[in-house]
Amino acid sequence: MQIIKLDAIDSTNLYLKKLMFNTQALDYTIVVADKQTSGRGQMGTTWVSEGGKNLTFSILKKFNNLEVSDQFELNICISMAIFRSLNELKIPDLKIKWPNDILSGSNKICGVLIENILSGSKIQASIIGIGLNVNQISFNNLPNVSSLKLITGIQYDLDELLKIMAKNISAVFDHYFAGNQQNLKTQYLEHLFRKDKASTFLNNSNTMFTGIIRNVTNEGKLLVEEEDEIFKEYDLKELKLLY
Ligand code: BTN
Repeated sequence: MQIIKLDAIDSTNLYLKKLMFNTQALDYTIVVADKQTSGRGQMGTTWVSEGGKNLTFSILKKFNNLEVSDQFELNICISMAIFRSLNELKIPDLKIKWPNDILSGSNKICGVLIENILSGSKIQASIIGIGLNVNQISFNNLPNVSSLKLITGIQYDLDELLKIMAKNISAVFDHYFAGNQQNLKTQYLEHLFRKDKASTFLNNSNTMFTGIIRNVTNEGKLLVEEEDEIFKEYDLKELKLLY
């Protein structure tokens, strides 16, 4: 794997995207930065991370024949690769919060931003951006956020962590392309935060309601059982799970 290390950059996702368009970047090229000045989060949010303390990196994955309609399977692969990495480090009570936040208990420790480059109905490549809170111990009172050090008290070596993550990402993709899509989805659902538990949600008209997460559809929508056993599907913009 080719690893490009940067002191500071706007966003490793943006950098890797430009690199891919301007050069023959290899499969699994990694760009890792000590500091991002414009880190990007899901749904147009920003990802703020203290310089030098956390892992902020992007990895390029190229595909030969992956349908756009299967794109949620990428979220499953990446969530499972991060889950396995953190499990190796014995981080307790790991959960995946749909679509791909990684929690310890009910606190977020890792976020993922996947940006796909399409060609017709196929995904040509994905820029997979990962932000893992590692040695940072103060988060300006942000609710439900934590880091590996806050959880275990250990000061981690960021290069070692990156190696573990990269190893698991390529292993999970190998497993996926060896025909284990269903098996990975089963594992993802096993670790899904608040699955089969009554939870409170906020819909996009700002109304709170109670429901139970039952599944994730093949398109990546959350399947929620509501009153009178009515099942509804939601995409990311349509609801927020309240803790
Ligand atoms: C989220 O949970 O909102 C997703 C956060 C993703 C952050 C990572 S940090 C490395 C990569 N570069 C970015 O600009 N964003 C991702």
